[in-house]
Amino acid sequence: MKFLEDWNEIGLKIGREIRENVLKYYGKKEGAKIIGQSPSGDTTRLIDKISEDIAFKHLSDLNVNIVSEECGDINKNSGSSWTVVIDPIDGSFNFIHGLPCFGFCFGVFKNNKPYYGLTYELLPNNIYEAFHNEGAYLNGEKIGVKEYDKNNIVMSYYTNKDMGIVNKIKRTRCMGAFGIEMAYVSKGSLDCATDLRPHVRTTDIASSYIICKESGAIITDEYGNDFKLELTATSKKKIIVANSENILKDVFGL
Ligand code: IPD
Ligand code: CA
Repeated sequence: MKFLEDWNEIGLKIGREIRENVLKYYGKKEGAKIIGQSPSGDTTRLIDKISEDIAFKHLSDLNVNIVSEECGDINKNSGSSWTVVIDPIDGSFNFIHGLPCFGFCFGVFKNNKPYYGLTYELLPNNIYEAFHNEGAYLNGEKIGVKEYDKNNIVMSYYTNKDMGIVNKIKRTRCMGAFGIEMAYVSKGSLDCATDLRPHVRTTDIASSYIICKESGAIITDEYGNDFKLELTATSKKKIIVANSENILKDVFGL
């Protein structure tokens, strides 16, 4: 059995195998074949299932709790101190429709606390990762959030009602894979990623939560309070991920 601290090796092995096996379905309707429904109510498609099966194959002989988008909460009462949170494919719609923003998300928690996060942007082969307290990295190079400039905010923004926010920011982007968009905040490409519908699931954000924290981002709920990540596949929340506390005041009026 592998040492459970080798989480970067395990996560990378899974991510690379997923990449090798699913990219042939990129932009093709065969990948969209419906397989079932996830516990949070989304349709599970062939590409989600192939990816999740690969992850499970590598995790099956480890004594860990698993929270995965398609299968839900597994081994909940295993007694293990480890929980692995997976989104086999974040951005499945993009994948199937030939839009390039999607990835594999792998977050590891020890006693419910962040331990290691890997967000793998599959098409450009970009690997974002972070161990708790050791900084955030993109393909081995240290990354950090963008410096805040009130007049130059670029934000990805999901909402279902007009909150008068869009005219406070210079550029909006909405890319359809929230875990990946959080990784963009961690490397300073976006100032902020926000979902106020509320639609973010733990599986979408767990890996990038760890990476964003390590890169210097703040992560809050819609009131500006510390975001509480619940390690379960059924949670759906509102979230603000930003490079600076100033955004809470200047953009959201908090
Ligand atoms: C989706 C993406 C998308 C967000 C949706 C999620 P999925 O994840 O993260 O950005 O707006 O709410 O469901 O379903 O492709 O894993
Ligand atoms: Ca997914």
